[in-house]
Amino acid sequence: MSIAAIIVAAGKGERAGTNRPKQFERVAGKAVVAHAWERLSRHPRIDRVIVVIGDGQEALLAEALSGAPYEYVIGGAERQDSVRRGLEVLAGADKVLIHDAARPFLPAAVIDRLIDALDAHSGAVPVLPVVDTLAAKGDVLGDVTDRAALVHVQTPQAFRHDVILSAHLDWLGPPATDDAQMARAAGHGVALIEGDPALFKLTYKADFERAEAMMAQHWQTRTGLGFDVHRLEIGEELWLCGVKLEHSHGLSGHSDADVALHALVDALLGTIAAGDIGAHFPPSDPQWKGAASSRFVEHARDLIAARGGMIDHVDITLICEAPKIGPHRDRMRERVAELLQLSTSQVSIKATTTERLGMTGRGEGIAAQAIATIRVQEIR
Ligand code: CTP
Ligand code: MG
Repeated sequence: MSIAAIIVAAGKGERAGTNRPKQFERVAGKAVVAHAWERLSRHPRIDRVIVVIGDGQEALLAEALSGAPYEYVIGGAERQDSVRRGLEVLAGADKVLIHDAARPFLPAAVIDRLIDALDAHSGAVPVLPVVDTLAAKGDVLGDVTDRAALVHVQTPQAFRHDVILSAHLDWLGPPATDDAQMARAAGHGVALIEGDPALFKLTYKADFERAEAMMAQHWQTRTGLGFDVHRLEIGEELWLCGVKLEHSHGLSGHSDADVALHALVDALLGTIAAGDIGAHFPPSDPQWKGAASSRFVEHARDLIAARGGMIDHVDITLICEAPKIGPHRDRMRERVAELLQLSTSQVSIKATTTERLGMTGRGEGIAAQAIATIRVQEIR
């Protein structure tokens, strides 16, 4: 038995009026569509996830889901056209969850409740009670409707695949705002399961502020610490913080031996407990011989981004008698900021000597320390 999911993300987001269609705007550290995509892709009971996007939105999706393999198909003019394209691609799936990309915060428990409900029903939807008074609108206020008899209907909506595909093909009504009404029109019973307030849909610009505020409580601050030493030798290049310096000696090591970037990589990896630089780029592996350490930094940066993390600040201390770091500090800050996609105000670079004491004092090597501060989302 296979269970698939469709994320409809082919809308224009006209009511939100954001710069790019709302499903590709960032919220709580990543693109709106990436939130639900991760939740569905990582759910153990879901075998396949397909994203439906608008024609020409391929690059936006690639940016939103960067780093991971994903499946997509081009949708249509109305939401129901987009859903149908997804259903056609998923021919062969037994059950399908249909979800709005514009509802980024999708608790795993809702997914489980929906899938469980399909044991006894052809379809199931998450619902919430109506808490406000509901009344008819006219020139003046009209009659009140009994809110106890009504529910808010959310997505994902879950169906047997054959049921919802034929309901779509048979639908003759005006453009439908959800799929359950099509299943009902085709004569199928749709079960109600408990929804979640976190599943609200981003419709207007103000909803983005609400989303950020709701997720703010879930940000956790993490720090990571890094330290590294490389030997100074004649005839080597000297790379520090991604900048090549002219000096009598250079640093030796398997890669370009940029001791500062190596300490930085360990600090970044430390924030997400992802091991150390040697675990990711073994010195025994010939492909890293002479490699630019900037690649290691980009890798650590991408690992943090893949976990929905945001780098807030990094601080590097170089420990050496020579060369003097001060004249190069601004260039180094700019280079590190560029590598981490931060502003220079988020990058600190300092230097100190050890008063001619010890290995750095004797000029045998250069040491570097780094500390990184990031935020990650820890949600249900
Ligand atoms: N959607 C879609 N294809 C369409 C229209 C909508 O895939 N032709 C998707 C949207 O991307 C969204 C979901 O359906 O994830 C719910 O639609 P809605 O909130 O109305 O989004 P938009 O249509 O993009 O917004 P608007 O109506 O304000 O333009
Ligand atoms: Mg719409």
